[in-house]
Order: sequence, then C-alpha cells, then structure tokens
Amino acid sequence: MIRAVILGTGSCLPARTLTNLELEQMVETSDEWITTRTGIRNRHIAAAGEQTYQLAAKAARRALAVTGIDPEELDLIIVATISPHMIMPSTACFVQAELGAVNAFAYDINAACAGFTYGLDLASNYIQNRADMKILLIGAETLSARVNWQDRNTCVLFGDGAGAVIVSGSSDGRGIFGSNLKADGKLWNLLFMDSPESLNPDLQRQDWQGAHIQMNGSDIFKHAVRLMEDAVKTLLRKTKTAIEDISLMIPHQANIRILNNLKERLGISEEKIFINLSQYGNTSAASIPIALDEAHRQGRLVRGDIVLLCTFGGGLTWGSLLMRW
Ligand code: ACO
Repeated sequence: MIRAVILGTGSCLPARTLTNLELEQMVETSDEWITTRTGIRNRHIAAAGEQTYQLAAKAARRALAVTGIDPEELDLIIVATISPHMIMPSTACFVQAELGAVNAFAYDINAACAGFTYGLDLASNYIQNRADMKILLIGAETLSARVNWQDRNTCVLFGDGAGAVIVSGSSDGRGIFGSNLKADGKLWNLLFMDSPESLNPDLQRQDWQGAHIQMNGSDIFKHAVRLMEDAVKTLLRKTKTAIEDISLMIPHQANIRILNNLKERLGISEEKIFINLSQYGNTSAASIPIALDEAHRQGRLVRGDIVLLCTFGGGLTWGSLLMRW
C-alpha cells in the first residue's frame, strides 16, 4: 500500500526576538501574566521587509537540503498561511520563483492554525493518486504584521516563522494512515482577521475594525480543548490505535494551559508531547512544521514511530492526523 511520507523537514525563524519583558514596555502586561496564562516567554518577529514567502523559501531550502532533492524535481508547492505576502499571487508562487522550482504548480491554502495539517492531508491524497509526486508543503506566517500592537489580548500571543516538509509516496509501511479534519464556520467570529476595506463604496461596511486578529480568548480556549480531544479520540478509534501506541504528539502550539488540559483528557504522558511554544509563541500554520523540524533535529522522531498531530484554529478549523514516521 502506498502512503505519503515526510522525507525531510526544515524551518526558519526570523533573527529578531521579542521577549515578555520587552512587551511590558509596549502594552499594560507583565512577564508573569503572559507566562502563567500562556506559557509563552519569547517570540520571533520578522524584520522590516522580511516577507512570509522569504521565511517560507528559507525553510523549504533547508528541507530540500536534508532530502537531497533539487527544486526542479518538485511537482507541487502548497503554502498554508493566513499572512500571505499578497492576496494575489499566492505565497506559494513567490516561493516557487525564489526556489527556481520551475516544474511545480503552486497554490496557498487558508485553514488558519490548522492549515499545515489540512495541507498534509491534501498532500496525502495527491500521493494516493500519483505515488512518485514530490510535494513541498510549507506553513509560514508573519503574524506580527497582522496583530494590533495596542491590543494586549492578542499581541502577546503570536510570532513569526516558517516550517517546511517534503512529501512523497512510499510502500514500506511508513506514512500517513489516518486523518480527521473538521470545520465549523458558524463559530467564525470567535477568532478572525478581517479582509482589507473594500474600495467599492457599495461594499464598504459600517462595522469594519481593520485587518488585524480579533479573538474571544476564553471561548476559543474551551472549544480548542474539547474539539481537539474529540478529533484525536475519534481518529484513534477509527484507526484502531491506542493512545499508548503514540510515540510523540505534536500539537499546535498556542497555549500551555490548552495543552495541559488536552494531556489530562487524552491520558497521554508529558514526555510524549512536543512543546516549544515558550520560545516561539503561536505561529499559526507554521507551528506544527516548526515543531516537527525541531523534534526531528533533536532525534525525537525515530523511524517506525507513530506520530500524532492535532490542531485547532480560526474558522473554526481543527483536526488530527496519524503517521508512522
Ligand atoms: N496582560 C495582562 N492582562 C491581560 C492581558 C495581557 N496580555 N490580556 C488580557 N488581560 C486581562 C483581560 O483584559 C482581563 O481583564 P479584566 O478581567 O479586567 O477584563 C483578564 O486579563 C482576564 O482575561 P481572560 O480573557 O479571562 O483571561 P484568560 O485566563 O482566559 O486568558 C488567554 C486569556 C490567554 C487569551 C486565554 O483565554 C487563551 O489562551 N485563550 C486561547 C486563545 C488562543 O490560544 N488563541 C490563539 C489562536 S487559536 C489557537 O491557536 C488555538
């Protein structure tokens, strides 16, 4: 049986960092509040002129270098992002040009923080159709350009970065063997970022607040815990996998209290959950591929291990995915 496997990973974090102590100088907050409520201590912030597609291309080059695959060998580039360089063309097209991946078709997907996991499921489906495809999947964000730096409710949470994987087919028993993706558009207004104000006077809105992230934090928190628990448990049942079979869970990195709640509900031990959010904050679609790359480089992903991804974001969108590494 052919399954989609991750051949290599890469990531890129902007050099510039922003600590909680620096945020204390910008809004009415404290290191103590941010650390205890979120677990975040630091985040990386793109420098002036550093664009989403540039972080994405750097992460991609690292993933390509690990696999020894040339950019011209790529068939498809998918970028998951909610902070694209432009609305058109896609960030994936900019990446394609940066890499010289002349044989790849390219497009973006938007499933907010769940974008990378949605993308991996998509890549897996392409592979079922054509096993020798080489797919570059990237999660990349410059959310620093999309938060309101006067709003302490949101600006302390997010960071910039990119993570990339190369996906292709394999018949050696490894690869993606299940996914459970969900969405609920009725709950869109718990977490959203408006589109730019319309230039068509007939389409201008009275309630437009500016294109930055707005969030109902406590409702998001409750939904995130409950829905990720459900997404994981359903997938485990469907694939006849026991929670004890999981070697490493790589969750979306949003908030340490969400992850602690999830850990209790799933009955998974702490050392099996990969957590790096204290250093990066919530990098939305980039958070899981950055974590995957870090886990890989730390030797925490061993060939044959069962890896569980779980994710949650605006939309609402959420889900889980299982693979044998
Ligand atoms: N510093 C100091 N005080 C703050 C800050 C801040 N940065 N932000 C909010 N507060 C204040 C609020 O104004 C409120 O004050 P008030 O009681 O005087 O009105 C008080 O802290 C408590 O606010 P709550 O919202 O009740 O605090 P809560 O314990 O829920 O924590 C938080 C807030 C951290 C946002 C939490 O709700 C959360 O993490 N939610 C999930 C949000 C999230 O992760 N979003 C990311 C996108 S979705 C995803 O990726 C999963």
